[in-house]
Parts: sequence; C-alpha cells; structure tokens
Amino acid sequence: MVKLVAFAGSTREKSYNQAIIEVAVEGAREAGAEVKLITLADYPMPIFNQDDEAEHGIPEKAQQFKELLIEADGFLIASPEYNSSYPALLKNAIDWASRQAGDEKVLAAYKGKVAGIMAASEGALGGMRVLVTLRMLLENIGTMVLPNQKAISRVNTLLDESGKVSDEKTIKQLKLLGKQTAELAVKITAS
Ligand SMILES: Cc1cc2nc3c(=O)[nH]c(=O)nc-3n(C[C@H](O)[C@H](O)[C@H](O)COP(=O)(O)O)c2cc1C
Repeated sequence: MVKLVAFAGSTREKSYNQAIIEVAVEGAREAGAEVKLITLADYPMPIFNQDDEAEHGIPEKAQQFKELLIEADGFLIASPEYNSSYPALLKNAIDWASRQAGDEKVLAAYKGKVAGIMAASEGALGGMRVLVTLRMLLENIGTMVLPNQKAISRVNTLLDESGKVSDEKTIKQLKLLGKQTAELAVKITAS
C-alpha cells in the first residue's frame, strides 16, 4: 500500500484549503492509499535561519515533519495563494524539510516522490497562480507533480454550514485528484 502525507498550507481555523484537502484525502483512501492527514499547526517551526541551524541543528518539530515526508511515497498539498504565490508557512516547512541531518540522503524528503496539488480561494482564479509556483518549487527539489491540479474558485459558495465541501462537482474533482495521486505513487514505487 502506498503512503501519502496530506496537508494544507494554512493553519487558519476555518481554512478553505483544509476543507479541500480533506476531500482529496478521501479520494486517495478510496483508491487504496494509506494517507496521513496532518496540520502544520502541529509542527510549529521557526523561520529558517542558517546561523541558527548551524548552532542548534534542525528543531525537533521540523525534523519530525521531515521524517513524515521521508517515509511517504507522495504528498497531497492544498495551498492558499498569497500575493500570487505560496504562504511563508508552507515555504518555511518545505525549506526545513529540505535540510539534511545525520546519514539522510540529499533531499530525501522529496526525491522520487509524487505530489497532487490544489488551491482554494474566494476569488475568481481559485489560487491558480500559486499552483504554478508550487509546482515549480516541488519539481526543482525532485518531486514529480501530477499534471492534473485543481484551483477551486469562489470556494465559499461550495461549502455547507460546517465548512465542509458540499458541492458534488467539486467533491468529484478533488477525489479524482487524490485518486490519481495515489495511482501515480503506486506506479512510481513499482518502477
Ligand atoms: C497576505 C495575503 C495575500 C493574499 N493574496 C491572494 C491572492 O493573491 N490571490 C487570492 O486568490 N487570494 C489571496 N488572498 C486571500 C486568500 O485566498 C484567503 O485568505 C484564503 O482564505 C486563504 O486560504 P485559507 O482559507 O486556507 O486560509 C490573500 C490573503 C492574504 C492574507
């Protein structure tokens, strides 16, 4: 069974990206993947500073987050779009997990992995521009990003009162992305 780690690039209480990642996770699980859904709120990390790293090493939570990624075959990531790009929270976590410790291989968290990426916004573009930058970032550190991706626009109109995605078409699209990510992870791990 392939293992995926899923998370949103937002720790906002009513995060839209948290809402959409939950649906993609369902799709991946239905396709047979073992998915660990985490929140970055459980992995607080200081803003990366190379002097601090040299003096104190990798902080415990950052190392734990990195180890989750190392153990996984792939990722599902839902990112808010901040000023056309990814939020500092997400980039900082990705940066920390790119740092080598002990006998880990270079970029062990990312190389040879697959990722399905998505975004949600109240705006008309749905965060489409963050997906361009996030795709480039992940590909550059060795993670193959699925061609299919989803930018969910006007996401506030697609939720029920509890904040869960209730629009059937959106649920279908997000589940498909989760399923396709799981299927690509199976192919990559078999090759
Ligand atoms: C600093 C900042 C910049 C933002 N820039 C964009 C943007 O470029 N495009 C967009 O669609 N929404 C933008 N937004 C609005 C976010 O899409 C919105 O806050 C969204 O709810 C964040 O995702 P979340 O609900 O998962 O926290 C921005 C929000 C902040 C705080």
